[in-house]
Amino acid sequence: MTQRVLFLPGDGIGPDIIEQARAVLGHANERLSLGLDFDEALVGGAAIEAAGTALPDDTMSRAREAGGILLGAVGGPKWDHLEMANRPEKGLLGLRSGLGLFANLRPAFLYPQLAEASSLRPEVVSGLDILIVRELTGGIYFGQPRGVETLESGEREGINTYRYNESEIRRIGRVAFESARQRNGRLCSIDKANVLEVTALWREVMEDLATEYPDVELSHMYVDNAAMQLVRDPNQFDVIVTGNMFGDILSDEAAMLTGSIGMLPSAALNESKQGMYEPCHGSAPDIAGQDKANPLATILSGAMMLRYSFGMEGAAGAIEKAVQDVLEQGLRTPDIHFEGTQLVGTRAMGEAVLSALDTHL
Ligand code: NAD
Ligand code: IPM
Ligand code: MN
Repeated sequence: MTQRVLFLPGDGIGPDIIEQARAVLGHANERLSLGLDFDEALVGGAAIEAAGTALPDDTMSRAREAGGILLGAVGGPKWDHLEMANRPEKGLLGLRSGLGLFANLRPAFLYPQLAEASSLRPEVVSGLDILIVRELTGGIYFGQPRGVETLESGEREGINTYRYNESEIRRIGRVAFESARQRNGRLCSIDKANVLEVTALWREVMEDLATEYPDVELSHMYVDNAAMQLVRDPNQFDVIVTGNMFGDILSDEAAMLTGSIGMLPSAALNESKQGMYEPCHGSAPDIAGQDKANPLATILSGAMMLRYSFGMEGAAGAIEKAVQDVLEQGLRTPDIHFEGTQLVGTRAMGEAVLSALDTHL
């Protein structure tokens, strides 16, 4: 059966890293006859330039037809002056909500070869293997009302609304409990239940769900403490579940534990396991088009696509092993480079993964 993969390079370093991930997936596809069929479309600033909108209808309909979507990144200074509703980021948010991709899995895994690239001491981060389960289609990102209003006084007021209903909390909770069950059986739910009613409800629903998962040990932590604990002793965590905004922030923090934001892949899944996959980082305008970006988070996101959307565990594992091989060979893009390792660019890194892949297929 043919499976459609849609590539959405987007902006900034997006095209640089997608080119490498596409080559790696293409190689696996050919060698293993995976039956993947590749498509490509515009999103974000690139789509604004070409079609006047960050998420053209054509892109959305091709996204609906794809079994898996691999996105680079969107956004950049060129579009920062636009109104919120017209910005490149809306393209990404529109894909997430339009496809119902509520479950965002962000695995922060430290490759042993990168212990020295982490900003924490090797003995604190070694063995790091955390899964952040972030709710992706609700919370303050999507809550209504929102906007900027002019008050009677003439002063303006910005409004966003933080809301979750019980079923939204329960469905992301289930994903997290199921994930914890398949890992080390520990789940930490992160909230601000001491201040925000919405997260007090979140905590109640998680407690309620826990009765269905007696094999999973549930704990709770306030987000401020969690931000601190992640850098104090990250290995205390197994699976973390949290809302949209806390998950956004904590996953960037967790990324740095793995050596670089350029190492963290992600999957965003809906109820039917259709998925959009993307590195957790942004479009890095400061290094775009300079052959400096680390393509590994994107290549690893491609591996997650093969695993979660297509059930191709063998090919996914082979790509992950190939990434491990190039790190073992000492190849490093600037973000993970340290003394005694070999500095390479985006292309050379991608090509090295592609050659290493052959030994695992
Ligand atoms: P960013 O993640 O783009 O960059 C932060 C820092 O990390 C920069 O110094 C950048 O050079 C570095 N970096 C990021 N990815 C890297 C990689 N693969 N290799 C090496 N270094 C890397 O975050 P930002 O600067 O806050 O945002 C820039 C733009 O990206 C904004 O327009 C923002 O809205 C957008 N953004 C998009 C996504 C997405 O598309 N998923 C995610 C985050 C930010
Ligand atoms: C991410 C990004 C996005 C988010 C932005 C670009 C909309 O930061 O994927 O982490 O906040 O979810
Ligand atoms: Mn983010």
